[in-house]
Amino acid sequence: MLVSAKDMLQKAKEGKYAVGQFNINNLEWTKAILQTAQELQSPVILGVSEGAGKYMCGYKTIVGMVNGMLEEMGITVPVALHLDHGSFDAAKACIAAGFSSVMFDGSHYGIEENVEKTKEIIALAGSKGISVEAEVGSIGGEEDGVIGAGEVADPQECAAIASLGVTMLAAGIGNIHGKYPANWQGLNFDALAKIQAATPGMPLVLHGGTGIPADMIRKAISLGVCKINVNTECQLTFAAATRKYIEEGKDLQGKGFDPRKLLAPGTQAIKDTVKEKMELFGSVGKA
Ligand code: 13P
Repeated sequence: MLVSAKDMLQKAKEGKYAVGQFNINNLEWTKAILQTAQELQSPVILGVSEGAGKYMCGYKTIVGMVNGMLEEMGITVPVALHLDHGSFDAAKACIAAGFSSVMFDGSHYGIEENVEKTKEIIALAGSKGISVEAEVGSIGGEEDGVIGAGEVADPQECAAIASLGVTMLAAGIGNIHGKYPANWQGLNFDALAKIQAATPGMPLVLHGGTGIPADMIRKAISLGVCKINVNTECQLTFAAATRKYIEEGKDLQGKGFDPRKLLAPGTQAIKDTVKEKMELFGSVGKA
């Protein structure tokens, strides 16, 4: 059964580790992430962007697929199904469709409008025990065609949003989606410490988990981050493994063109990436 992200993040916060959010795009990715979480006895959050939601035929299809997998794969570790960077309408649609967690990203609104809309989502989600992530200070880079400039969140604005009753807060600290440019300045730990001081006990979320050096990840966790999102890295390893398989000509030999064989190396690459991240985030054995 899907669970809200609340308890797993509270435990992660107390235990000083982070739960990974891995974005899903299809059945293979979802299966690979769930298998890895179960093998490693790690809690996990499956992230779904609006674009991936459309690609997978809509939120109800995803809820059906994930619930079916939890049952038929015998998954016993805590799993949350979470809308990633949702608009106001998408958050409402996911709450209705059976997601156990939603992110309402109101960071592009002014703070007053972000507060009003976040309140409404919290009221809707709260009545169903669904966790809510809010964002302050946009996270840079491109995601699903949306390009954010990236900014460092204001601690007082974070406090205003946190006090509304959100479960977790994504605050920009110089992190960006996708690959980091060569001249990236690194995470702003000073800002992170100020944000956590202004929001005591609030589980903080680090977006843009691809390409952040391991020492920065560990430091961010020590300063209050207990959920880390990874998307691009799984896409890169999936694409590289699939390309290698095709270049080796295996798709043309025997039954190598069978999608179950064609997608196997990429699926294994996702499992390897998820394992590496769960080990780095410290969530192994914490289910
Ligand atoms: P990356 O694509 O950089 O891994 O970021 C993922 C993310 O933050 C999803 O919200």
